[in-house]
Amino acid sequence: MSRRIKIFDTTLRDGEQSPGCSMNFSEKMEMARQLERLGVDIIEAGFPVSSPDDFESVKAIAKAIKGSTIAGLARCVEGDIQRAYDAVKYAQSPRIHVFLATSDIHMQYKLKMTPDQVVERVAKMVAFARSLCPDVEFSAEDASRSDQDFLVHVFNTAIAAGASTINIPDTTGYSTPTEMYDLVSYVKTHIQNPHVDLSVHNHNDLGLAVATSLACIRAGATQVECTVNGIGERAGNAALEEIVMGLKTRQGYYDCETGIHTKQIYRTSKLLSTITGVPISPTKSIVGANAFAHESGIHQHGVLANRMTYEIMSPEDVGVNQNKMVLGKHSGKHAFIDRIEELGYKMEEADVAEAFERFKVLADRKKEITDRDIEALIGASAVANVKETYKLKSFVVNSGTVISATAVVKLEKDGQEEIEQVARGEGPIDAAFKAIDQIVGCHSKLENWTINAVTEGEDALGEAISKISCNGNLVTGRGLSPDILEASIKSYLNAINKAINAAPKANLE
Ligand code: KIV
Ligand code: ZN
Repeated sequence: MSRRIKIFDTTLRDGEQSPGCSMNFSEKMEMARQLERLGVDIIEAGFPVSSPDDFESVKAIAKAIKGSTIAGLARCVEGDIQRAYDAVKYAQSPRIHVFLATSDIHMQYKLKMTPDQVVERVAKMVAFARSLCPDVEFSAEDASRSDQDFLVHVFNTAIAAGASTINIPDTTGYSTPTEMYDLVSYVKTHIQNPHVDLSVHNHNDLGLAVATSLACIRAGATQVECTVNGIGERAGNAALEEIVMGLKTRQGYYDCETGIHTKQIYRTSKLLSTITGVPISPTKSIVGANAFAHESGIHQHGVLANRMTYEIMSPEDVGVNQNKMVLGKHSGKHAFIDRIEELGYKMEEADVAEAFERFKVLADRKKEITDRDIEALIGASAVANVKETYKLKSFVVNSGTVISATAVVKLEKDGQEEIEQVARGEGPIDAAFKAIDQIVGCHSKLENWTINAVTEGEDALGEAISKISCNGNLVTGRGLSPDILEASIKSYLNAINKAINAAPKANLE
């Protein structure tokens, strides 16, 4: 009988803590709801002690999500563990995830603790976590570079203290798939309780995280930690969609299954990319724009004769919709709702109403509204929940080869006063952003700005992403419009509004 592998998603913790991937409260909620729809077993919702914002979002996710276990991360100290529990305790199925490093280099230089002190701390803190919560996971950070016998000793200590999952991270992405296969096999045969879940958590520094995770599953791991699109520290974590589709496509080889509703994969990936502004490479496995595109004549001919010649999985399996239905300005709310449902979205009534308003505005400016446009509009609704301290009222921009670019921008502040400023810049975007800076008086810096067409054609919808750094945080803003200047201004304002309304994070060691 095939083995059921638990999918532990850490997009909202390991993923969110990587530069350029931070999310605000409503974005985390939206992502958590989508992860629940995707069918992940465990959502690691955050690191509650790291900031009041993180605490509040973990708590809100714990209250709202019913279909997945909600985990909160904690260092091996009482304050962290208590804070994690205070946030996850509202969940139907809460988990405290405690970690401490076990490699010589981490113990000596980072923790400044002896191996005996580490063992003592693990025994005490796992027992404390267990006194609060029946579901405790213990991770030995940098496990792959730890002495194997010491690692097993620490794991047995954690198990004796009440841990029901032990996690073996390849924190630095240093190990090969074969080495991690051997390590999992070793731990499996040496731990004292064979009934605990054996988890793995692989980073992608050498591009091996997914291969290593699959090798670990072959060795007997029962839980795999991963993130959507593989986002995470440095080169990221193992990509959820690649592990899941690897197991599904090669079911005969792995003889394992997951609880993931694979038709939700594409949507989940797109939502994350929309929220973070981190684009998906066209050649990215499973969810890249080219993942199911057949360009060469030989391939096209083969696929037309029999899809299986070049397609090892079908786009429909991961929720990529090949059918391009078109709506227009005469389409009513019912047609819009039907299309949303056909695309597989489940939205609250208020969100549908908001998305429909955006649809009407867009339909006035764009002849044909395709599925991609609708997905973008839904994404916009999902991330629109930012307090609009500053709102765009109007803008005029002049630019050309013989004049310096000048922008006049009028914003409304807090729904009350209107403020207008004029600025010159290196180009129209620079001029518009400078005018906004003068109004807002902000000390943020534009780090990156991109514009992409959501669809093809002359009247394509433009999606602008602005990344600004503000108080040491990188904040992403998004703007949509068929007019690329308007999309850009909206994206910059969206980032500024997010930065203004975000609380700072603590810097944890
Ligand atoms: O990479 C790592 O070791 C971690 C642990 C906290 C599990 O993220
Ligand atoms: Zn990690």
